This record gives sequence, structure tokens and C-alpha cells, in this order.
Amino acid sequence: MNNNIIEIKQLTKQFPVGSSFFTALRDIILTFDKGEFTGLVGPSGSGKTTLLNIIGSLDTPSKGEAIVLGKSISKLTHKEAAQLRNRHIGFIFQTFNLLPVYTVFENIEFALLLQHLSAGQRKKAVMEALEWVGLTDKAKSKPAQLSGGESQRVAIARAMVKRPELVIADEPTANLDSENSHHILKTMKQLNRDLKVSFLFATHDEKVMQYLDRKIILKDGKVVEDNVLEAINL
Ligand SMILES: Nc1ncnc2c1ncn2[C@@H]1O[C@H](COP(=O)(O)OP(=O)(O)OP(=O)(O)O)[C@@H](O)[C@H]1O
Ligand SMILES: [Mg+2]
Repeated sequence: MNNNIIEIKQLTKQFPVGSSFFTALRDIILTFDKGEFTGLVGPSGSGKTTLLNIIGSLDTPSKGEAIVLGKSISKLTHKEAAQLRNRHIGFIFQTFNLLPVYTVFENIEFALLLQHLSAGQRKKAVMEALEWVGLTDKAKSKPAQLSGGESQRVAIARAMVKRPELVIADEPTANLDSENSHHILKTMKQLNRDLKVSFLFATHDEKVMQYLDRKIILKDGKVVEDNVLEAINL
């Protein structure tokens, strides 16, 4: 058993456009080890979200293979793909995606409803996740009562509550000011270090760079650089 949690082999992704195809990713070859804190960067339209969607089993490759946590994404049934997402992968989006009519507690608890846990077990897990992001006092608040930074911390707690092996974050700091971005990045970095969760980001944000262990630059659907970085120590 090796340490790879993601293996991308000669992956190409084409989208049908009219009567032809647009190639969003070309011949990507990448591996990611357990515990990485890696950023995918590159200009708008370079293929970052497309690659994250495939790794997150929300989409499939046109050619080649994406093996995520030992499973080949193209070979999964809908049910197996849903299981991989629900149990093993946490998602954090640019626009928090919290459900407005539910409390912070309930928004996080939703991530656990597909697992066979008792209400008591769920409560313990949700409160622990809120502690990780420093928001235990907001459990009963509604999303509209939170700041942008707090909303993103709830989204991190929701991604983390099921203790996934991998968290995928698409532009997680795009809607935050500088102070909140640093707070969010520190929180994710701590979770990465303490819980050994792997993080994979897509980002334009320069502030993110100093936290990364590895930076992969995409351009026109190709990997043009892949560098290990000296990340700051918290
Ligand atoms: N469903 C689709 N159908 C057709 N083309 C698509 C589709 N999804 C993405 N594309 C195209 O693929 C390319 C890569 O898109 P993608 O969303 O991965 O870029 P990105 O790097 O995430 O950009 P951004 O930084 O703006 O979020 C773009 O040119 C986009 O227009
Ligand atoms: Mg994108």
C-alpha cells in the first residue's frame, strides 16, 4: 500500500460545445500523497475547477484515469460515487452554500445524516467540529446572523465533521477579506496538521500561497509547474 491518495493518469477532459469539443484538461499526470496541503493555481479557465470536480467524483474524465482513495472515478456507479463523496471527501466552496432556514448546528449535522449515527453521536461530532473552527457559541445561530468569515468556518466544520481523508476547496477565500482569509487558512492548516487530512485547493488568492506545501500551476488545461514549497509554520 503506497501513500498516494490521488493518482491522475493521462487525464483528458473534453466538454461538448455545439457540434465539437472543448478540451479543458489535457494529459494530466499527477499524484498526491496523504497529508498534503496543495494549491492548484492558474488563470481563469485553466481547468482548476474541472480537475477538482473530477477528483471529487462530481464529474468523470473523458480519457485517462483519476484514482481517488483507491477508486477509479470513471468506474464508480452513481451510488458508489455518492458514497465516496458522503463519507470520504469534504467540500468547501467559494459561496459557503449554507442552508438559510437551518441553524449552524443543523447545517453541519446534515453532512452526517447519511451515516448511521445516533442523535447523541451526531451532536458530539458537530460540537467537536464547531470547536475546531472556534464557533461553539454560534451553534444556534442562523447563517444570516454570521459574518462571511464565520460562514466559511461553518462550511469548513461541515466539510470536516465526517472526518474525511480529503478536503477539496474551490476558491475558499474568494469572498473573504484579508483578515478572515488568514484566519480560515490557519484553521485549515491546523486541521491538516492535527487530523492529517489532505487539502486540495483551487485558488487565485496570493495570500493562500504562503500556507501551501505544494503549488501546481495549470495553464490551458496543462500542468506547467509543480513545486514543493516551504510553508509557514503555525
Ligand atoms: N460544462 C462545460 N461545458 C463547456 N465548457 C466548460 C464546461 N465547464 C468548464 N468549461 C470550460 O473549461 C475551461 C476550464 O474551466 P474551469 O471552470 O475548470 O476553470 P477554472 O480554472 O476553475 O477558472 P476560474 O479561475 O475562473 O474558476 C473553461 O474554458 C470553461 O469555459
Ligand atoms: Mg474555478
